[in-house]
Amino acid sequence: MQIIDGKKVSAQVKEEVKKQTLELKEQYGITPGLAVVIVGDDPASRVYVNNKKKACEFVGFKSEEFSLPAETTQEELLNLVKTLNEKKDINGILVQLPLPEHLDDKAVIEAIDPLKDVDAFHAVNVGKIMLGEYDFMPCTPAGVMEMLHSYNIPVNSKNCVVIGRSNIVGKPMSMLLLHENGTVTICHSRTQNLAEICSKADILVAAVGKPKFVTADMVKEGAVVIDVGMDRDENGKLCGDVDFENVKDKCSYITPVPGGVGPMTVATLMKNTLKAAKIQNNV
Ligand code: GUN
Repeated sequence: MQIIDGKKVSAQVKEEVKKQTLELKEQYGITPGLAVVIVGDDPASRVYVNNKKKACEFVGFKSEEFSLPAETTQEELLNLVKTLNEKKDINGILVQLPLPEHLDDKAVIEAIDPLKDVDAFHAVNVGKIMLGEYDFMPCTPAGVMEMLHSYNIPVNSKNCVVIGRSNIVGKPMSMLLLHENGTVTICHSRTQNLAEICSKADILVAAVGKPKFVTADMVKEGAVVIDVGMDRDENGKLCGDVDFENVKDKCSYITPVPGGVGPMTVATLMKNTLKAAKIQNNV
């Protein structure tokens, strides 16, 4: 069994982005800029946003944070997005989700210029992912693919099972695995015989949002298990969707939480922002 080190792979990706960012500055005088918008004071969102800002600093981007109060109105938020769409020095716009309940996240995402939508959440970018012709990778799923590549884990012809069908992870994850010729099954809360389907997976991706949901009986001997979960266990300790301690010995590869998929999401975001800066400047 080998533990996939997301921190290590993420560091390699960020080093490459840093190198290309320096070249972009030296050759064209361009510094990529990312705007990060956070509404309210969700503690998990705060941690994610801080990690994104830190990564920007490391690779040499300009990052601008817009921290808005929980009472922000839809109109105020849409106005901010509109302003950021028009700013030349901002190449990527990220509105941290979830938004407070009174705000319409769909409308906010659709207001972002697709060329600045570094999360790849806008319908235009989602459509491109379906077609397999995209500028921006969906951050978390692309981070998972990068890990598989980094460890030379083949996807071609493998049975891939994704648990979860969210727009952020489950759906785009399934597409990326499909693009690499995996045979993909998507499981969700209404799936019958979920444990049985999972136990046939060569590559199992858990994106359910339930602590330790994937147990040892659901995992095939020698499977690759990717844990996208960020949950809290009964003692309030950070854990994933996979019962790591009991599952790990059955796997050929497994990602830990923390230190697995999490850091990869941020690395893809850096890649996307660099790409956005290049596209917007015709480089
Ligand atoms: N909330 C959880 N994951 C993400 C993400 O990748 N991007 C944004 N904007 N919000 C999130």
